[in-house]
Amino acid sequence: MEAFAPGRVNLMGDHTDYTGGLVLPMAIDRGTTVIGARAGNDGIRLRSAELPGEAVVPLDVSDPKVTEPPWARYVAGVVAAIKPSHGFVGQVSTTLPVGAGLSSSAALELAVALALGFEGSALELAQACQRAEQAASGVPCGVMDQLACAAGVEGHALLIDCAALTVTPVRLPDEVEVVVAHSGEGRRLADSAYAERRRSCEAAEAEIGPLPRADLAAVARITNAEVRARARHVVTENERVGAFVEALRAGDLVRCGALMAASHESLRTDFDVSTARLDELAAELSSTAGVFGARLTGAGFGGCVVALTRPQALHVGWRVRAVNGARVVTDRKG
Ligand code: GLA
Repeated sequence: MEAFAPGRVNLMGDHTDYTGGLVLPMAIDRGTTVIGARAGNDGIRLRSAELPGEAVVPLDVSDPKVTEPPWARYVAGVVAAIKPSHGFVGQVSTTLPVGAGLSSSAALELAVALALGFEGSALELAQACQRAEQAASGVPCGVMDQLACAAGVEGHALLIDCAALTVTPVRLPDEVEVVVAHSGEGRRLADSAYAERRRSCEAAEAEIGPLPRADLAAVARITNAEVRARARHVVTENERVGAFVEALRAGDLVRCGALMAASHESLRTDFDVSTARLDELAAELSSTAGVFGARLTGAGFGGCVVALTRPQALHVGWRVRAVNGARVVTDRKG
């Protein structure tokens, strides 16, 4: 059995998924492979080509968060979420930088779930792996990462409505490149700050109702200034996703770039998830000839900047292509 799942980068729409907003990620041509075979009922044993230790997970694992080594928590999360009926022995390898904000954990979860025999739609796979991620990390993440990695379409970004859970592929123009550059900062504070941001959005919704339907006039009525700023980011970011999709379809890459700059600014000020290094990197890339725009991508607090560029404009980071989503490569038994 061999299963593969890509990582993802998000072009537009961060910190919108967990309030049912819009996002525009794409699955990328780097990912994680699980190769192995069914093995009795003794649980799951996986080794990693990149990371130390072995994941040894009983079929009835109850608390994935305490599994060691830490990467094995995602394996345990998947086992808890999909409850496989049989054991498995195998090996994991990845071409994704681990912990860089390109959803290496989502790719691991999806590849493990498929290798363990999960059957269901891309959405069902994504939702099972979202539960796995939450159980493994304790972070109340949204569905974007797992759904982007599950539902990727070659040559396309994915417009995801996180309330309706619909995925609409949006073709990327041929003359554009997507480049991801790492800030060099791990996402140390990301977990606690992520949960805190999510609580602020819930506080905003308690006052003015669902953020995907709110406008700026409603946001202005929120009493607490910090909660108001968080909500303003979400409302304007949802608008930017819609505008970015329109601009992509019209081939207006200059407009796409301007929307990326506005998104970064909103994430920096209103949502307060940027860092000095991410700001510097986004500014540096944006001001390079041939770059339409750049913004931090994913949760923030370190991690990566994504840039939209003319071909060969940047010689830093990773050039990524949009690819198809997670799949079983071969289900040969043995
Ligand atoms: C992380 C989460 C996603 C999403 C992004 C921010 O990647 O896993 O669900 O909330 O942050 O857009």
